[in-house]
Amino acid sequence: MPTINPVKGTHDIIADEADVYSYIESVFAKEAESFGYRHIVTPVLEHTEVFDRATGEGSDVVRKEMYTFLDKAERSVTLRPEGTAGVMRSIMTNKLYATPDMPLKYYYSGTTYRYERPQLGRYREFRQIGVECVGEDSVYLDAETVALAARTLQKLGFKDLRLKINTLGDKASRENYKEALRAFFATRIDQMCPDCHERLRLNPLRILDCKVPEDHALVADAPKMKDYLSPESLERYQKTLDLLRLLDIPFEEDDTLVRGLDYYGEIVFEVHCISPEGNDYGAICGGGHYEGILTNFGGPKEIDVGVGFAMGVERVYALMKEFGLIGGLASTLDIYLMPLGEEAIRPAYELGDTLRGLGYSALVPYKPGKLGAYFKKAERKGARYAIIFGETELQNGFVQVKDLTKQQQEEVNLKELPDYLAAHLR
Ligand code: HAM
Repeated sequence: MPTINPVKGTHDIIADEADVYSYIESVFAKEAESFGYRHIVTPVLEHTEVFDRATGEGSDVVRKEMYTFLDKAERSVTLRPEGTAGVMRSIMTNKLYATPDMPLKYYYSGTTYRYERPQLGRYREFRQIGVECVGEDSVYLDAETVALAARTLQKLGFKDLRLKINTLGDKASRENYKEALRAFFATRIDQMCPDCHERLRLNPLRILDCKVPEDHALVADAPKMKDYLSPESLERYQKTLDLLRLLDIPFEEDDTLVRGLDYYGEIVFEVHCISPEGNDYGAICGGGHYEGILTNFGGPKEIDVGVGFAMGVERVYALMKEFGLIGGLASTLDIYLMPLGEEAIRPAYELGDTLRGLGYSALVPYKPGKLGAYFKKAERKGARYAIIFGETELQNGFVQVKDLTKQQQEEVNLKELPDYLAAHLR
């Protein structure tokens, strides 16, 4: 029978790698909680309308990349391509906005699906960790959100990050700027890639982050957002940068940064990082300020403002690996039990259970084996200690305990084993 491969663009995450994924998510959760965020878990499967309303039909994600299908009752459903829309839907469904305690702060992690062309750092199923801070409009919250992203990556051990930041201005500034871009590119679009033709029609801002190298020269000559910003948006942008300086968070301004989703206005940001081997996995984090999503779900206008970001866990993992940041993060085995002879298996089975009850990880072979083979297995499992015994030792109330790192062995009274392990293993 031929083996079955995973669906294109999906991948298995196994053992040590899975441990690091859990670690990344737990560091992020702890950091988010330290900023007052609470956990939210929304369904992977949503009505397609959720993304049409939140994400904007001009974005590539909604137009081309969604896993949308009809369920058995012929309803159009979609596997979430990002986390923001589901959180907004949940805020409305559960009337989470009916509280005097604004802003609402939620963090999430989970699988996300985009029908993209798989390549380095780009999957069709990938994990995102992210936050949404909704209901209060403040430069402090904008900057705080950027800070949370930076602090999380710092806690994970990253040093050389490029935090790019830009402003898309308020709605009026943005519309004026889009007009200027339309006028500029209208006479030049024939020299640009086919995707840019569509971008010009749907959202000319997206032309600015076109990845086709031949288009870059034209983009460099295009009008600049800063020249179209209202004084309020410019001030807001400057204040945000000032707050980042206050928190000592390095950033670089990038006026071509526009983001791929339509809901952003004012501050947008991305974090990039080139690996030691020169690999560019794309942005590891992206986010920004948004307005107008909640009202698309029938929500109150007064709180229809938010700021958030999401990080791609696959990309964070790949970079941590290349930077050597994952040593010692895989879970280890505390004790490998080595029963000598058939009669020692049953007591080993019982001792294994007792040790787990004390909080240790313990592995018990249920087929009697030779000591040499046991040691090889214990080494492959990365066990820290071995407990060796036959039936006679057990009858006399003793076991041999071996520190597998130091290669030192001692006889330990069974009654004293918990104290011995507490002193040596904890
Ligand atoms: P996004 O920039 O589309 O933003 O995605 C966030 C992150 O997800 C990216 O920076 C990248 O690390 C990761 N990512 C995206 N696509 C892929 C892929 N195909 N394979 C692997 N990783 C990928 C959002 O999703 C917004 N919802 C972020 C946000 C939250 N903005 C405000 N609130």
